Amino acid sequence: MDARVDGKVALVTGASRGIGAAIAAQLLASGAAGVVITGRRPETLEEVAGRLGEGAVPVAGNAADPDHIEAAVATATRRFGRLDLLVANAGTNPGAGPLMDVELSALDRTWEVNLRSPLLWARAAWHAAMAEHGGAIVTIGSVGGIVTSPVLGAYNVSKAGLHHLTRQLALELAPGVRVNAVAASVVRTRLSEALWAADETAAAAMHPLGRLGDPEDVARAVTFLLSDAAAWITGVVLPVDGGLTGAGGSAVTPQG
Ligand SMILES: NC(=O)c1ccc[n+]([C@@H]2O[C@H](COP(=O)([O-])OP(=O)(O)OC[C@H]3O[C@@H](n4cnc5c(N)ncnc54)[C@H](OP(=O)(O)O)[C@@H]3O)[C@@H](O)[C@H]2O)c1
Repeated sequence: MDARVDGKVALVTGASRGIGAAIAAQLLASGAAGVVITGRRPETLEEVAGRLGEGAVPVAGNAADPDHIEAAVATATRRFGRLDLLVANAGTNPGAGPLMDVELSALDRTWEVNLRSPLLWARAAWHAAMAEHGGAIVTIGSVGGIVTSPVLGAYNVSKAGLHHLTRQLALELAPGVRVNAVAASVVRTRLSEALWAADETAAAAMHPLGRLGDPEDVARAVTFLLSDAAAWITGVVLPVDGGLTGAGGSAVTPQG
C-alpha cells in the first residue's frame, strides 16, 4: 500500500492484541521510527514488543489512568524525541445488554475507557508535542456508534460519543493536527467474540463483502488516515465495515 509514515513516532493504546497490535505492526511496516504500545498486562505487552522489533516500546497501564497516560506520552518524547501520531484504540465492553438494565459500574467503566480516555490521550499528546509540531490522531470507533442495537447499549453510546469527540477535536486542533475515526464493524478479535464465534457464517453474511473484518483491514485504514496521503482529511468517521452501514446499517446482533 502507498500510505507511508516514514520517520514518524506513534503511540497506540491497547496494542497487546487484536486491532491495536495490527495497527502497531502496520505503522512499523509503513516506516514509523518508533511505536509506543500500551495495555494492562506487562508480560503480554513485552512479548508483543519483542515480536514487533526494536522500534516498539511497551508501557503497561490502564488507558483510563491519567498518570499512565502522562508516563506513556513522556516515554515517546524521551525515547524518540517526538510524538507525531496517536491511535486511541483501547476499548472495552463489560456491560452488554439494553441500557435499561446495564449495571451502572459497567456503564461508567465503558464510557470512561471508550470515551473519556481518548480525550485524555489527545490532550496529553497535544500538550507534550503536537501543539508545537503538529500531528495526526485516529480514534477507533464502531458501526455501533452509527446504528443502534438491542444488545450493545452502553458500548454503542460510548462509540457515538467518540465519533463526535473526534469531530470536535478535529475542529479544536486544526490546522496543525488532523483527527479522524474509523468505525469498524465486526472484526475477528477477543472483544467481539460474542458477535461471531457461535455462528461465523451468519455474522459474515450481514456484511455485503461477505466476510468479517481482520485486524489488518482496520490497521491499513488507520495508517492511511495518519499518513500524508490523508493530508486534507480531518473530522471524518470512516466506516471500515465490509459495506454494512452503506447497505442500510442493519443492527449488529449476536447470532445464537
Ligand atoms: N473487534 C471488533 O469487532 C470491533 C469493532 C468495532 C470497534 N472495535 C474497537 O476496536 C478497539 C480494539 O478492540 P479489539 O477488538 O482489538 O479488542 P481486543 O482484541 O480485546 O484488544 C483490546 C486491547 O486493548 C487492551 N485494553 C483493553 N482495555 C484496556 C484498558 N482499560 N487500558 C489499556 N488497555 C486496554 C487489551 O489489553 P489488556 O487486556 O492487556 O489491557 C488489548 O490489547 C476497541 O476500541 C474496540 O471497541 C472493535
